[in-house]
Amino acid sequence: MKITIIGTGYVGLVTGVGLAELGHTVYCVDTIKEKIDFLQKGQAPFYEPDLEKLLKKNIKSKRLRFSLSLAEVINSTEFLFICVGTPPQADGSADLSYVYTVAEQIKNLARSSKIVVVKSTVPVGTNAKIETILAKNKKAKFSVVSCPEFLREGRAIYDFFHSDRLVVGSINQKSADAVAGLFKKVKAQKVITTRETAELIKYASNAFLATKISFINEIANLCDKVGANVSEVALGMGLDKRINPYFLKAGIGYGGAAYAKGVRFLKVKKDAGSTAYEPTAESVKNGSYPISRFLYMYTCSRPTGAIKDYIDWVLSEEGQKIVNDVGYFPIR
Ligand SMILES: NC(=O)c1ccc[n+]([C@@H]2O[C@H](COP(=O)([O-])OP(=O)(O)OC[C@H]3O[C@@H](n4cnc5c(N)ncnc54)[C@H](O)[C@@H]3O)[C@@H](O)[C@H]2O)c1
Repeated sequence: MKITIIGTGYVGLVTGVGLAELGHTVYCVDTIKEKIDFLQKGQAPFYEPDLEKLLKKNIKSKRLRFSLSLAEVINSTEFLFICVGTPPQADGSADLSYVYTVAEQIKNLARSSKIVVVKSTVPVGTNAKIETILAKNKKAKFSVVSCPEFLREGRAIYDFFHSDRLVVGSINQKSADAVAGLFKKVKAQKVITTRETAELIKYASNAFLATKISFINEIANLCDKVGANVSEVALGMGLDKRINPYFLKAGIGYGGAAYAKGVRFLKVKKDAGSTAYEPTAESVKNGSYPISRFLYMYTCSRPTGAIKDYIDWVLSEEGQKIVNDVGYFPIR
């Protein structure tokens, strides 16, 4: 198959190299000239085991090419992967401007039908919004498919070929099958679902991993107080298969944007086209906010910037009134 990767950063480059290695013809596009020059010479702009080896191999076999111009390659490929950044804004929510800029570019440039695969991490409702933008192009038909990325930096190439799961969210079974088919040589459990579910799987996964880290840190605090050994507590807990030993290493807390964004999804904005998930007095009182107990767990853990707003709310007059009325969130 012929594929264009839009945004050749960490995710885009690893995805492009991986898909080329699977036998597809891949064009990787980026707006940064130095990056494209570097890549065309077979040099990876960051270190990942096996990345440069596969990069050189697939350039040589002509399955992998790099370009600064989306216009030049878009109409010779059927699949377009959006892999641009979605950095956190001052309020913690994802900046979707790069994603929507790419959607506008596709709308303006595409002359034939395309399957648009969204790999960037985006809040619930974003894939549907991209489809609305693309629908303004009356010359082509577009199917927007969510395919979130779960790679771990430092093991990105290994994870591409040995992923735990491939999540594909679509409103169209044929498009979902076509995207899953691109990865058919990868032995991952395939989860074919709706776009909203796929978007939420990514955010919920990040939030859950952040929770595990915060949880073991809280247990570490308790260990300090009672003279217990947190490494042994984690070992004893992790041997239970329902818990598992991963992400149970006590430390200074989680960092980077990804987990913070995951935690933040609990405050999805109404304009993302989804149900608002903010803990309002009403939703807590009438019980339509079931995630509040889950939030309670990590607000009890070491606060990070990402959950500070929530803690502030709990400590506010309104929050405390609800705490007293409803009987939980006893933050000290
Ligand atoms: N890095 C990770 O470990 C990881 C893991 C899972 C998911 N993600 C998600 O994947 C997405 C991409 O992350 P990343 O780390 O690869 O980001 P990155 O910043 O490394 O790469 C993004 C690239 O997109 C390019 N770009 C921006 N606008 C463009 C345009 N209009 N046309 C072409 N290229 C354009 C940028 O120049 C940059 O090279 C984000 O949403 C991120 O949250 C990242």
